[in-house]
Amino acid sequence: MKIQIAPSILSADFGKLNADIATVEPYVDLLHVDIMDGHFVPNITMGPPVVKNIQTKLPVDLHLMIEHPEMYIEEFVKAATANGLSKDKVSVTVHQEACKHLHRVIQLIKSFGVKAAVSINPGTPVEMIKDVLGDLDMVLIMSVNPGFGGQKFIPVALDKIREIRKLKPDLDIEVDGGINAETAKLCVEAGANILVAGSYIFGAEDRQKAIESLRM
Ligand code: DX5
Ligand code: ZN
Repeated sequence: MKIQIAPSILSADFGKLNADIATVEPYVDLLHVDIMDGHFVPNITMGPPVVKNIQTKLPVDLHLMIEHPEMYIEEFVKAATANGLSKDKVSVTVHQEACKHLHRVIQLIKSFGVKAAVSINPGTPVEMIKDVLGDLDMVLIMSVNPGFGGQKFIPVALDKIREIRKLKPDLDIEVDGGINAETAKLCVEAGANILVAGSYIFGAEDRQKAIESLRM
């Protein structure tokens, strides 16, 4: 599978977000947008008005770290497509831990014509999403506890990537948290094909070089 790189704009400068996005856009495959509500995770980032102003031609990967995601999905899809981005270029990821009726939420995401994905935290086993894997366009394995950029990679993510790859040879498996050149290699060997990286890319002096180091 082709390795795709998804820079997390959480580590970009929010005061010049579009300019920062433009510095990485030519070298990456999709844009990872971290939405946090201060309830599901101990941090707050952005809502639909900010998403609406993101300017990119890249596919947009909305990582919803929020409680009751079903209440906000439509608004986020509208925001992500406000600048003319087509719906097939938008994916919405919800957390298993935030969904009482996960299957229903996945169908709701799909009803808006975008790609559906589910994420699990480091403390959540693959077992919790096994029954919905066939409904998903992508799985997001968290390799840190969500909430902040710049944390250390938690290796149990590798076991989960291996487990899902065995079950679903063709499914997109994205990994998020603590990704750098070394951990990227481990994740790809385990079977991940989409790598999210925030601080490693936006904190680098040479962002293009940092991105390329993730593909090796
Ligand atoms: C963490 C977010 C990540 C974060 C990754 O809650 O979901 O996307 O930005 O940051 P790094 O790559 O710095 O670990
Ligand atoms: Zn994320």
